[in-house]
This record gives sequence, C-alpha cells and structure tokens, in this order.
Amino acid sequence: MMISTPKLQQICLIVTCWLGGLFSCLLFIQYASQSCTPEPIPSYHQVYKSVNISNPITTTQAQEEKPILLLWIWPENYRWDFRDCKTIYNIDGCHLTDDRNLYNQADAVLVFHKAIKWDLSNLPPSPRPPFQKWIWFHVESPTNTPRIPGMEKLFNLTLSYRRDADISVRYRLNLNKKPNKDFVLPKKDKLLCWFVSNMNPSTGVGVRMKYYNELKKYITNSVHRDYITEKLNGPLVVGTVPVVLGPPRENYEEFTPGSAFIHIDDFPNAEALAKYLLQLDQDNEAYMRYFDWRKHITATPHLIVWNQEFIIYICHACEYIGRHKEYRAAKDIYKWWFS
Ligand SMILES: *[C@@H]1O[C@H](CO)[C@@H](O)[C@H](O)[C@H]1NC(C)=O
Ligand SMILES: *[C@@H]1O[C@H](CO)[C@@H](O)[C@H](O)[C@H]1NC(C)=O
Repeated sequence: MMISTPKLQQICLIVTCWLGGLFSCLLFIQYASQSCTPEPIPSYHQVYKSVNISNPITTTQAQEEKPILLLWIWPENYRWDFRDCKTIYNIDGCHLTDDRNLYNQADAVLVFHKAIKWDLSNLPPSPRPPFQKWIWFHVESPTNTPRIPGMEKLFNLTLSYRRDADISVRYRLNLNKKPNKDFVLPKKDKLLCWFVSNMNPSTGVGVRMKYYNELKKYITNSVHRDYITEKLNGPLVVGTVPVVLGPPRENYEEFTPGSAFIHIDDFPNAEALAKYLLQLDQDNEAYMRYFDWRKHITATPHLIVWNQEFIIYICHACEYIGRHKEYRAAKDIYKWWFS
C-alpha cells in the first residue's frame, strides 16, 4: 500500500539510523542537505565567537607549566586553529601543537587510528621518552575499524565516544533549573528525512538499509544519504523528533529523555512505524509531547563545519593531559575495542 504525501508535508521527523558501536553516540547528521533541515539552524558564527579558520595557527602559546600535547597527524587533514579549544570550549590546559620538533618534550602524542599505515611506518619514532603517553584516537564503529597489526600494546590512553574510553567525549544534554523560554519549534514542512553516512554493507550497515527500504514502501521519504556531522544531538538541537535504529532504547535513554525520540524497536515492523508516524502527523498534541523535555533540558549545538569534526575530541584530550599526570601502562586497544 502506498500512501500519498501532500498532507504529510507538515512534519519533519528525522530518521536517524545507525548501527555503529554498542553506544549511542555515532549518529551523524548531515547539514549539507538544507532542504530537509528545519529552521532555525544556529550557524557556527551565531553559536560561537568566531575564530579565523582561514588563518590557523598550529601551536598554542607555550607555557612552561603546561604539558605538551603533540598532534601527530591531523585527522583527515582537517586543519583548524588550536586556539579554538580556548575560544569554544574554554579548554586551555595544555600546550597543543603539531610541531614534531617537540616530540622529545611532548607529554602526550595523539595518533589518529585511520591515518596509521598498515606497516606502522608513520607512527612516532622509538624509543619514546619515558614520560610520554600515546593516545589512540578513534571514532568509527568497531565494524568499521581496520585491525592494523602490531598496535596492541602501544597506547597508554584511548580517546573516543565510548563511555569506557580513558578520554570519553560525548554530546550531553544540559539541565536548566529555570524553564526554557527561548526555544521556538521550527515549522514542520517534511514528514521524514533520512540521514545516513555510510552505505557500504561490509561496514555493518546492511540492517538499517533493509529497514529503510522496508519503511520506504509505506512512506515517501526525503532521502539524504550524504555526509555527516555528529550525534543524536543535531536533530534534537534543531527541533525534530529523531527516529532511531541502533542499540536498544535503554541505551539511548541513558543520554536522552525517552519521550524525546521514537525507537524502531517500539514497533513490530516498518509498516507499524509508518502508520504511527502518519498518525502523529495528524495529531499535533501528541507530536508536541515529544518536545516537553525542552522545558528543562537544553541540547547544545555542536560544530557543524566540515573541518571542525574532530576539534571537540582533541580539545578534551588537551584538557585530560593537563589534569592527569599519572603513569599509565599501555593496554591492548583491540581487546578493549572489539569486546
Ligand atoms: C582571516 O585570515 C585571513 C588570512 O590571514 C585574512 O585574509 C582574513 O581577512 C581574515 N578574516 C577575518 C574575518 O579576520
Ligand atoms: C606508556 O605505555 C608504555 C608501554 O606499556 C610504557 O612503557 C610507558 O611507560 C607508558 N608511559 C607512561 C607515561 O605512562
């Protein structure tokens, strides 16, 4: 049965589906597809005091007492101004640099997993200074993680979205004691948007594609399978109802009020979900209940420009290194990551 859409063009629910990892943090939201993103989207410049990203500096002010964090490889070669850590997150706990001449003085070296060559030839040199910690930085799903051999016992610290990483970086919702007044729900002009970053079935996304194809039979979608920024955070920030496919509902509810999203597991099949969405489209009161949580909780916009993807992680590594001087023996990252 196909359902015609004209009167459905009034809701924008975002289908955010992903299977990456056990934890609810790898949700990538595409902002390039403006047609499906309701107004208002806070722009980078509205949200953050601007820094001039066309004029990056690659080292922060050296200060003797601050530990040095050496960024060994720029992730995806996305360059940005290290002063952003201070400007955006008020993080200033380390001397962040990409100057390899400082290797022998660096308290920590941050290595981006995806950039490591299969023969390990682009890792920092040995022997490493005895006080130096190596940080393994990785933000893909385990299914999408190349198991480069020889890396098992090199890294003292892990930096990732996982809550059990040494340096765990997640987007969090914030509580407000006083009720929020300033959020205006954007106009609904779409029923559904589909956000997906990765279509390659070998990386473990086959299940969501199957579901999507099933759902598509019942609802005519606005389809956007483009590039990505991060998390469940995005749809919540802009004022939509995420429909999620991924780990169980309980896992999402650890970070997000259960009444803020729709989980596909709440329905026996795609047809039932489609029916519910269509019904919700007609029931404004029920739809509005998905936004009750906003009275006392705020979703904070994250950085959405392409080269900003890794800033938050690297800044938090900086903060961590500034605070933690303790010895850390290397652990088997794969044993942890794939467990
Ligand atoms: C940013 O830096 C570039 C290069 O130094 C400069 O040409 C440009 O005017 C700067 N833009 C702003 C807004 O300061
Ligand atoms: C980091 O791990 C290596 C390998 O276990 C160890 O030799 C080194 O002492 C550790 N470094 C620090 C600073 O904890």
